[in-house]
Amino acid sequence: MIILLASSRDSALSITIPQIVSKPSTELSDLETAGQLRSLRKLAPVSSKPGSMRIDWEGRELINFSSNDYLGLSRHPALIEAAIRATEKYGTSSTASRLVCGSLDLFHELEKTIARKKKTEAALTFANGYATAMGTIPALVGKDDTIILDKLAHACLIDAARLSGATLRVFPHNDLRKLEKLLNSRKGRTLIITESVFSMDGDLCPLAEIIELKEKHDALLLLDEAHAVGILGEKGQGLAEELGLQERIDFQMGTLGKALGSAGGYLAAKREWIDLLINKARSFIYSTAPPPAQAAASLAAFQLLETGEGTDLRRKLHAHCRTFDSPTPIIPVIIGENDAALTASQALLESGFLVPAIRYPTVPRGTARLRLTLSAAHSEEQIATIREVIADLSSGK
Ligand SMILES: Cc1ncc(COP(=O)(O)O)c(C=O)c1O
Repeated sequence: MIILLASSRDSALSITIPQIVSKPSTELSDLETAGQLRSLRKLAPVSSKPGSMRIDWEGRELINFSSNDYLGLSRHPALIEAAIRATEKYGTSSTASRLVCGSLDLFHELEKTIARKKKTEAALTFANGYATAMGTIPALVGKDDTIILDKLAHACLIDAARLSGATLRVFPHNDLRKLEKLLNSRKGRTLIITESVFSMDGDLCPLAEIIELKEKHDALLLLDEAHAVGILGEKGQGLAEELGLQERIDFQMGTLGKALGSAGGYLAAKREWIDLLINKARSFIYSTAPPPAQAAASLAAFQLLETGEGTDLRRKLHAHCRTFDSPTPIIPVIIGENDAALTASQALLESGFLVPAIRYPTVPRGTARLRLTLSAAHSEEQIATIREVIADLSSGK
């Protein structure tokens, strides 16, 4: 159908040209003054060998301590082989939304696998974790409802909560007393949102206690396991698995792009919730499904987690974590001001290590930090060296 619109010249509309209040260059220089300017830097692997953490960073060879490839799976031959085979069989693209052109068997197999591992009835996958949050949270709650969110929750959870139109209440990080207070004064369907491993601090949420509260107050819980899957739990399924609490969580969310070495996001829940998401999650409905290779690599990663090799990789990663007395591979080194964090990151760069400075608005003002991430792909020697370099930096040597 072709509709021709009447030309505005013929209509009585008068057009007001909005006044431009600031130019991009002004905003950019404001960001620079505040130490918040970011830019893209070119990176390439030095070696195509599985497990190598050596990278070429704008012509300089560095050891990468910035990725979320916690088990080194992104270069694992089993994932690469699965992605190649899927590309050969299905092509490079899914070509449309799954509701429009049909839903590939690979996605169904992946979702069945996720549901089984999460001990839920069903699961739905998305292009990435961000799209999972943006699609699911506004589909689960709306303007007559309440979201109660941990203050340090990831940006995608905050953005999705805002988009939902629900009344948004924030509790101080891991503060159960305040959480209960907010639960006492809520309206409508109430969704508590938190993470199992906090992405910028590497600490854990008090999951058992949060579940007690949500059950006592008849609320729902969405747990983002983005940085716990592959790392925690006997089978690498995250904190909920480690504590035997999977069946008491309404919505288990995660990403396939960190420890699982692929890309994508998922939400696991009861069948009726998943059916609702298929009908309401806009980032699922109005978006081309991820490439088949992505689903195939994710399936291979889930399979690998349960093998002896998966267990060995987790053991190695945890040994690295113990070197830093940390329960997780995310090690924050709090510096304070943005510029100081950038200087520290630059100093590490000059010593041969890529460790990013994380600044406001990713973390609260005045808590700029180095965020060091460990991987099973790091050698003991690399871990020992970075530990020494960080210790020297902290003691001002
Ligand atoms: C806690 C948390 N949730 C969700 C996401 C988004 O996942 P993805 O990178 O797959 O979009 C991230 C990514 O940084 C994260 O740290």
